[in-house]
Amino acid sequence: MTGPAVPALEISRLTKRYDDGFLALDGFDLVVPDGTFFGLLGPNGAGKTTLISAVCNLIRITSGDVRIFGREHTHGEARRMVGLAEQDVNLDRFLDVEETLLYHGGYYGMSRRDARARAKEMMDVFDLFSKAKVRAPKLSGGMRRRLLLARALMHEPRLVILDEPTAGVDFELRLELWRYIRRLHETGTTILLTTHYLEEAEELCEEIALIRSGRLLARDSADGLREAYEADSLADVYVKAMAAA
Ligand SMILES: Nc1ncnc2c1ncn2[C@@H]1O[C@H](COP(=O)(O)OP(=O)(O)OP(=O)(O)O)[C@@H](O)[C@H]1O
Ligand SMILES: [Mg+2]
Repeated sequence: MTGPAVPALEISRLTKRYDDGFLALDGFDLVVPDGTFFGLLGPNGAGKTTLISAVCNLIRITSGDVRIFGREHTHGEARRMVGLAEQDVNLDRFLDVEETLLYHGGYYGMSRRDARARAKEMMDVFDLFSKAKVRAPKLSGGMRRRLLLARALMHEPRLVILDEPTAGVDFELRLELWRYIRRLHETGTTILLTTHYLEEAEELCEEIALIRSGRLLARDSADGLREAYEADSLADVYVKAMAAA
């Protein structure tokens, strides 16, 4: 069957007002086409994590519509197509590395056998084999980040959402994570990434959305944004866009 491809993510008029009355997302529209490497940029408090939490059905949305590969985001099938590495490192302190991965696989309905094989693969890719039997509190910060990413990828999601995956990781690991995420993208996985490192967005993302105060300011390629804002660099774009908002 041919026709317009179903986007990986389609957000329409999404509004989120938290219980205390704070309006974190205000009629937000965004389409992320299947297979794109997409970046979400904006200052602290812009609403990036709120947006991601809404997409992953971790918070109740106030109004609007969110679809993942055409499926309503509250649907179990939609959830299974998404892998999320959250901004806050939320690992179970009583589980070791391997158990963390196996539990996640089980939660997403993988057979014990598949989960074991995939966990091995993930520990290999993220260089965690030697820590297989070590519990989360005894891992270094960078190892926890890697485990978070490995866990997000366990069930082979088609859309991978990474909320500041490289915050606080060393130079070498950052390059390694870039390489891995890029390879993942090359195999057809859609990536949605938030970062405060503009050079990271520039290096990795085909398309970038700038957001502030729960609203979309602009959305284009890095080149397109530079042109639109008559800026020499993405940093320059960022400053201009935020000043105008
Ligand atoms: N549970 C909550 N109740 C009330 N307000 C909240 C809640 N969670 C987040 N907010 C507010 O919503 C706004 C957006 O927060 P969010 O975490 O989405 O920002 P962000 O863009 O991810 O920022 P950062 O770059 O710092 O991670 C902030 O003003 C925050 O204080
Ligand atoms: Mg955030």
